[in-house]
Amino acid sequence: THQWRGIIEEYRDRLPVTDTTPVVTLREGGTPLVPAQVLSERTGCEVHLKVEGANPTGSFKDRGMTMAITRAKEEGAKAVICASTGNTSASAAAYAVRAGMVCAVLVPRGKIAMGKMGQALVYGSRILQVDGNFDDCLDLARGLSENYPVALVNSVNPYRIEGQKTASFEIVDALGDAPDIHVLPVGNAGNITAYWKGYREYARPAADGALPAVSTRTPRMWGFQASGSAPLVRGEVVKDPSTIATAIRIGNPASWAQALAAREESGGLIDEVTDREILRAYRLLASQEGVFVEPASAASVAGLLKAAEQGKVDPGQRIVCTVTGNGLKDPDWAVAGAPQPVTVPVDAVAAAERLGLA
Ligand code: F0G
Repeated sequence: THQWRGIIEEYRDRLPVTDTTPVVTLREGGTPLVPAQVLSERTGCEVHLKVEGANPTGSFKDRGMTMAITRAKEEGAKAVICASTGNTSASAAAYAVRAGMVCAVLVPRGKIAMGKMGQALVYGSRILQVDGNFDDCLDLARGLSENYPVALVNSVNPYRIEGQKTASFEIVDALGDAPDIHVLPVGNAGNITAYWKGYREYARPAADGALPAVSTRTPRMWGFQASGSAPLVRGEVVKDPSTIATAIRIGNPASWAQALAAREESGGLIDEVTDREILRAYRLLASQEGVFVEPASAASVAGLLKAAEQGKVDPGQRIVCTVTGNGLKDPDWAVAGAPQPVTVPVDAVAAAERLGLA
C-alpha cells in the first residue's frame, strides 16, 4: 500500500514540525505533473502542467493550509480567519473542520465563483461578504487577528509559504532536476514566493549539513498577472482591480517584494495577460490538453504563449506551468459562449443524426 500521506509526512524533514506536532491533513499534494503535448509543439519546448486542481479542495491552497492549520492547532488556536477570492476560504474551511476549529471568512461581495462559495458554506465556515475588494478584506482580516483570538491563515502567515514550497520539491522529484522555467499566475504573490523558496532550498544543502542538495539548479521564475489587476507590472497599487479571473483580482499583493525578489534572483519575468488571452488559454487547456482549470489558473499558460509569440522562449527548454485551481470551481466560463446542447427524443436514429454518426 503506497497511499500518498500528504505534504507534511512526505517532506517532514524540510518543514517546521516536530514528532509531537498534531498534523492536520487531507493528504494534499502529490498532484499530477502532466506532459502538455500541444503546448510543447507550439513552443518547441518540453512543457509540463502541475495540476493543482487535483488537491482535496481543488486548489494549491491546501498545501499551505495543512501547514498553517497544523501549526495553529499546535499553538492552541480555536479559530482561524482569512480574506479570500475564494480558494483560500474553501481550503481554510475544510482544514478547520479537520482540526475542530471555527473558520471565519471574508470575501469581496459578488466577486467569488459559485463553486468556492458553495465550499465555504458546506464546510460550515462563518462567511461575510465585504463591500470592498480582496485588498480591503485582507486589511480587515489582519486587523481582526490582531485584536481578537483568531489566527490569520492568509499567505502572510509564514507557514502557508512553507507548505506551498513543497510543490517545487514534487516537481524536482518527478523530473530529476529543476525545470529551466517555471510559470505561475500571480495574485497576492504568495505562491511565486513559495515556489522560489522551495527550488532554492532543494538546490542547496541545509546549513547544518543535515539535508543534501537534491537539484543542481533553480529555474527562472515567470509570473503573470491579469492586465486589469497587474500592480507588479505597473509598479503601483491598483485601486479598483478588475478581471474575469476573480481568483487573482488583487490590486495590492501582500508578497509584493518577495515576488520581485523571485524575479530578480532567478533572472525571471513578471508580465501581464489580458482576459481574452486568459480565456483563450483556458479553452486550449481543456479542449487540447484535457485539463480543465479555472480561469485564473490559465494565466500561466496564457503568459507562456504570449512570451513564445514574442520570441522570448528559446526552443528545447523544460518548462513547468502551474495550473492552480480546478475548472469546476467556476464552471460559468465553460458554459458561457458554448453552444447549447441539442435536444433529441429517445430515438437512436435521431441521436445518431444529430451526433453526425449517420
Ligand atoms: N490561482 C488561483 C486559482 C488562486 O486562487 C490564486 C489566489 C492564485 C492563482 C494566485 O496565487 O495569491 O499566491 O499569487 N487566490 C487567493 C485566494 C488570493 O484568496 O484564494 P497568489
